[in-house]
Amino acid sequence: YVNWDVKSLLLFTAVFILTADYIKNRRPGSFPPGPRAFPIVGNLFTKIDHSKSERYGDVYSLRMGQTWIVVLNRFDVLKEALVDQGDVLADRPNLPLLQDISQGLGVIFSNGKIWKQQRRFALSTLKHFGFGKKSLKPVILEEFSYCAKEFKSHKGKPFDPHLILNNAVSNIICSLVFGHRFEYGDEKFMELMSWFGKGLELEASIWAQLYNSFPLLMRRLPGPHQTVQHIWNSVKDFIRVEVKEHKHNWDPSDNRDYIDCYLSEIQMNKGQADDTFDEENLVVCVFDLFLAGSETTSTTLRWAFLYMVKYPEIQAKVQAEIDKVVGTSRQPSMEDRADLPYTDAVIHEIQRMSNIVPLSLPHVTTRDIRLGGYTIPKGVTIIPNLTSVLFDKNEWETPDAFNPGHFLNPEGKFVKRAAFIPFSAGKRVCLGENLARMELFLFFTSLMQHFTFSMPAGVKPVMDFRFGITLSPLPYEVCLTSR
Ligand code: HEM
Repeated sequence: YVNWDVKSLLLFTAVFILTADYIKNRRPGSFPPGPRAFPIVGNLFTKIDHSKSERYGDVYSLRMGQTWIVVLNRFDVLKEALVDQGDVLADRPNLPLLQDISQGLGVIFSNGKIWKQQRRFALSTLKHFGFGKKSLKPVILEEFSYCAKEFKSHKGKPFDPHLILNNAVSNIICSLVFGHRFEYGDEKFMELMSWFGKGLELEASIWAQLYNSFPLLMRRLPGPHQTVQHIWNSVKDFIRVEVKEHKHNWDPSDNRDYIDCYLSEIQMNKGQADDTFDEENLVVCVFDLFLAGSETTSTTLRWAFLYMVKYPEIQAKVQAEIDKVVGTSRQPSMEDRADLPYTDAVIHEIQRMSNIVPLSLPHVTTRDIRLGGYTIPKGVTIIPNLTSVLFDKNEWETPDAFNPGHFLNPEGKFVKRAAFIPFSAGKRVCLGENLARMELFLFFTSLMQHFTFSMPAGVKPVMDFRFGITLSPLPYEVCLTSR
C-alpha cells in the first residue's frame, strides 16, 4: 500500500513537471520554427548543422534547457541581423559560468556602458600597439625566432607543434599586456598555460553546457564545473600580481604596455560620472585578451601546418612566391603582403576552411526584432552560424575544397570576399581582428620562409576536428625541415 502511494506521488510529480515544462516552454507565436524540444533538456543535445537550416529555413529556433535560442544562417541574414540591425544585437546573453568569473566586467561578456567604454579603450590601445609607434611587429618577429629555435631543435623528426605554438602566441599577448615575454620553460608561464588549457577544456565540456542551462542546480552540485572557477581565479590572481608590479614602477609619461595605458586611463577618468575604469575591470580585460587572443590564433596556425602538409604543391607555390618577393636574407614585413597575393589567399583559405569559431559568440536581442519574416522577442539568445556563410555553395565556387583561388582573380591578384567572416561582423566583430591578421601573416610567411612541412613517413594528415572552445585539429605530429 505504501509502495503504491510513493509510486503515485512520483507519477503525479512527473506528470506535473512535464505539463508545467510543456506550458512554460511552448514555442512563442510568430517565433521561427525548429525541431521538437524534449521535456526539461529541450534541444540541449541537438547539433547545429546544415540539415536544420535545410529543413526549417535560414532562421530557426532551439531550446537549450530552459532558454530559447535562434540560429541565424547565411550571409544575407547575418548581415541584416548583425550589421543592419546591429544595435538590437549588441548585447551578450547571460552565460552563468563565464558571468560568474567576469562579473559583467571586461569586454567579451559585458554589456551597456561598461562594454562600450572598455571596447573603445581596447580598440584604440590595440591600434596603438598594433600599428602605432610601439608596433608589435618586431615583437611578433622576435617571438617567431624563439619558436623557430624550438622547431629546429626537433631536427626534422616528428613532433606535436601544439604547445610551442600556444606558448609563442600567448607570449605575444604577454608582450602586449605585461610588456614582457616569458621563456617557454619558465615555471610561472607554464603554470599560466596549463591553467588556460584546463580552463578552456572544461569551458567547452558538457558540464559547462549543463551549468549554463541549469545554473541554480549546478551551482550546488559537485563536478568539474566547480574547478573552472578555481582555475580562472588563479589566472586573475596572476594578472593582479602583474598589475601590482606595474603600479610600483609606473611612469605615466611612458606607457610601456596595455596595463600602463589602462592605469593612465584610470587616472584620467577619476571623478567622472560615467567612469567604468578601475583595477577589477583592468584584470578582466587582460583576462579577455588572453581568452580570445591565444587559443584562436594558435589553433589557426595548427590548421595551417596541416593544410600545408596535405597540399605540398600549394606549400611549394607559397614558398616560391616568398623566395621571390622576400628572399632568404631578411624577415617578411606587413608591407610585403600586397606583393604576396598567393600567400595571402592561402592564409584566407586556411581561415575559411578551418572555421575555428563556427558559431561565433552568442548575442541577445535587446528589443523585439523582425528577422526572416519572424518576430523574435527581446531577451532571446541569437547564434550567428558562421559555418553557414563560410561554406555556403552560393558564395564559394568549391565550398568544401581547399582552394586559394577563392581569393584570387584570373590575373592572380588578391580579391576580398564579403562572405569571408571568420571574425564575425557588426558591433561585436572580433576586437583583435587586425592583430590576429598581422600575427597570422608574419608567422605563416616566416614559417614558410624557413621550413618545409611534411608528415612522418607513412602517416597521412587527418583533417577531422575536435569541437572545444574552438574547432581544432586532432593532435598530430609533423616534421619541419629547415630550408
Ligand atoms: C570576439 C574570432 C583573434 C579578441 C570574436 C568573435 C569571433 C572572433 C568570431 C565573436 C564576434 C561576435 O560576437 O560577433 C577570432 C578569430 C581569431 C581571433 C578567428 C584568430 C584567428 C583574436 C585576438 C584577440 C581577440 C588575437 C585579441 C588579442 C576578441 C575579443 C572579442 C572577440 C576581445 C569580444 C569582442 C566583443 O565582445 O566586443 N573573435 N578572434 N580575438 N575577439 Fe576574436
